[in-house]
Amino acid sequence: MKKKVLVAGATGLVGGLMTKILEERDFPVDQLIPVASDRSAGKTIVFRNKSVPVLGFQEALGLRPDMALFSAGIEVSRVWAPLLAETGCRVIDNSSCWRMDPQIKLIVPEINGYLLSSKDRIIANPNCSTIQMVMALAPLHRHYGLRRIVVSTYQSVTGSGHKGLEQLIAERNARMLDNNTLVPNSVYPRPIDMNVIPQIGAFMDNGYTEEELKMVQETQKILEDPGIRVSATTVRVPVHGGHSLSVNASFENPFTMEEVYSLLTAYPGLSVKGHDVQTDFVTPMEAEGRDPVYVSRIRRDLSLENTLDMWIVADNLRKGAALNAVQIAEKLLSL
Ligand SMILES: NC(=O)c1ccc[n+]([C@@H]2O[C@H](COP(=O)([O-])OP(=O)(O)OC[C@H]3O[C@@H](n4cnc5c(N)ncnc54)[C@H](OP(=O)(O)O)[C@@H]3O)[C@@H](O)[C@H]2O)c1
Repeated sequence: MKKKVLVAGATGLVGGLMTKILEERDFPVDQLIPVASDRSAGKTIVFRNKSVPVLGFQEALGLRPDMALFSAGIEVSRVWAPLLAETGCRVIDNSSCWRMDPQIKLIVPEINGYLLSSKDRIIANPNCSTIQMVMALAPLHRHYGLRRIVVSTYQSVTGSGHKGLEQLIAERNARMLDNNTLVPNSVYPRPIDMNVIPQIGAFMDNGYTEEELKMVQETQKILEDPGIRVSATTVRVPVHGGHSLSVNASFENPFTMEEVYSLLTAYPGLSVKGHDVQTDFVTPMEAEGRDPVYVSRIRRDLSLENTLDMWIVADNLRKGAALNAVQIAEKLLSL
C-alpha cells in the first residue's frame, strides 16, 4: 500500500505545501522524492522530521516512483509527465499543460472524482480560481441547471508563486523607505502594492486573458456541460494568500433560498456563512491556511430571475492547488 511519491517543484509554494499536506493527511508515503531545478542542487526539504535531498528529474526517474505530484510549470509537465507515465507512475499535474486535452481527466474529487479509474496515468488538477468556483456551483447546478456565470476575481500574489510574493514585499519595503522607484523585473505589468491589476496571464485576440478563458473552459469540462456560459474578469490584488470571487450565477429553474443554503451546507468541502447573520462573511485572510471553500454573502439577485450572487473565498495554495492534488492521489489509492 505504501508508495514512492515524487513531488515536482518541491521547493516552490505549491510543491512545498504538497509535501506538508501529504504529512498532515498521513498519506502512505514509503519514500518521498522531492524534485526541483538545477538551481536547487544540494538543497534539502524536511519531511516527517527528516531531511530529504532535492533531486533532478533524471535521478528521480531512476527511483521508479509510483505517484508524482507535479507543480513545476507547464514546460516541465510537458516533458516529464509522459516519461513518468510510461513507467507506470500516476501523475497528477497542477499546470495547465493537460487540462483541456480530451483524453485527460480534469478532476475536483468532490465533483467528478467518480470519473477516475485505475487506468489513468496523467490526471489534471484545475486552475485555482476555477476549483473554488465550481465547488460552490456544482451542487446548485445539479438541482437547478446552471446557465450563465458572471465572475470577477480578486487573486492573491501567492497565485504567482514565490516571485509574486517577493514582488509585493519588495514594493512594500521600497515604499516604506520612501523610495518611489519601481522595483525592477516584476512578474506583474504594473505595481501590485497599493494597486489592483486586471490582467492575469497573456491577452488573447478576443480581449480576454488566459486566466479568464481557463475559467470558461475548465468550468464547462468539470461540470460536464459545454452549454454553461461564463464571463470572467480576473484581477490580481495585493493580498498575501487566498483568492476571492464575486459570482453572479443564473439557473434554468427556480430555487428557494432555504434550499440553496441546505444544498451548499450539505456539500463536502464547503463552509457556508451568513445564513443566520448576513454580516458573517469571510475574507481571504481568514481562509489562508485552511482547507474549506467558504461561501458567504449569498443573496437572490433582485435584477434577474433564478439568479444568485455569492462571495467565494479559498486558500489558492490549498484547495486551489496542493490539497486538491493530494485528494486526487487519495482517490487513486482506493482504485
Ligand atoms: N500558486 C498557485 O496558487 C497555483 C495554483 C494552481 C496551480 N499552480 C501551478 O503550480 C506550478 C508552480 O507554482 P508555484 O506557485 O509553486 O511556483 P513557485 O513558487 O515559483 O515554484 C516553482 C517550482 O518549480 C520548480 N521548477 C522550475 N523550473 C523547473 C525545472 N526546469 N525543473 C524542475 N523544477 C523546476 C522550482 O524549482 P527551483 O526552486 O529549483 O527553481 C520550484 O520548486 C505552476 O505550474 C503554477 O501554474 C500554482
